[in-house]
Amino acid sequence: MKGIVLAGGSGTRLHPITQAISKQLLPVYDKPMIYYPLSVLMLAGIREVLIISTPTDLPNFRRLLGDGNQFGLELSYAEQAAPNGLAEAFVIGADFIGDDDVALILGDNIFYGQGFSKTLEQEVSTMDGCVLFGYAVKDARRYGVGETDGTGRLLSIEEKPEHPRSNRAITGLYLYDNHVVDIARNLKPSKRGELEITDVNMTYLHQHRARLVELSRGFAWLDTGTHDSLLEAAQFVQVLEHRTGVRIACLEEIALRMGFISPDECFRLGAKLAKSGYGDYVMDVARLAGATG
Ligand code: DAU
Repeated sequence: MKGIVLAGGSGTRLHPITQAISKQLLPVYDKPMIYYPLSVLMLAGIREVLIISTPTDLPNFRRLLGDGNQFGLELSYAEQAAPNGLAEAFVIGADFIGDDDVALILGDNIFYGQGFSKTLEQEVSTMDGCVLFGYAVKDARRYGVGETDGTGRLLSIEEKPEHPRSNRAITGLYLYDNHVVDIARNLKPSKRGELEITDVNMTYLHQHRARLVELSRGFAWLDTGTHDSLLEAAQFVQVLEHRTGVRIACLEEIALRMGFISPDECFRLGAKLAKSGYGDYVMDVARLAGATG
């Protein structure tokens, strides 16, 4: 399976912060926002990832992450000229996807919870059609909303409904088989003029090939869409990291644990960041795994 991180858009809800910098490069406590979704793909075992962003912002993502080799990844980059909708990712990424299945994750979505890597591994290995992830929220009207029959089979999906049929928001992580490319290519733009991800999901729903995996109560799916939710996400990460002493979405550590890089390679990555607590942490993790540095 290949992975796409969609990190474009204009970030208008966070202006003026995002007037000169991409939303997905803003800090969420100790690391850039895009680390969080990228870590999810890595935990799913995905190593070939396409990062899509605006023509202006793309060079900054490249500067931050390079070709991904340092994390044992193959990163490539593509421009989205205008925010024409989430499903445009599959049209832009068609060559990159080739004949493979694909996971799309939104560059501003943060997932955290016990057993998530196991869930991901399992869903990726048994994937058929499309797999969506649902999360109970207080105000479902702000999201795509899914209704299931109790076994996980989707009965309906609606985008930002006035009267939601359930409190299950559809999160910004989507797994698809290779048909998604054709489905996206044949979509008509919505009233907003966008290629809507919900319309892609509807196609799978009508074919009875859409599943919704429930993320449980103890799980955290965090929003970074407003000034308050961005700060709250940072505070969540800070509290958790301080309390437990482990870092969330530390790409160097995940690359090490997934076997993408060796302890010595991990140590060298930490040494480059040695002036920050983050770098110290990466070096400690590498030493514990047997790095000789
Ligand atoms: O976060 C989950 C939600 O994401 C889902 O529940 C909704 O079904 C889905 O439509 C989407 O809703 P949003 O209101 O969050 O979509 P928004 O247009 O804000 O785009 C989400 C992110 O994707 C945002 O960081 C900007 C980026 N984006 C958006 C568009 C439309 C792009 O990179 N390119 C685009 O064309």
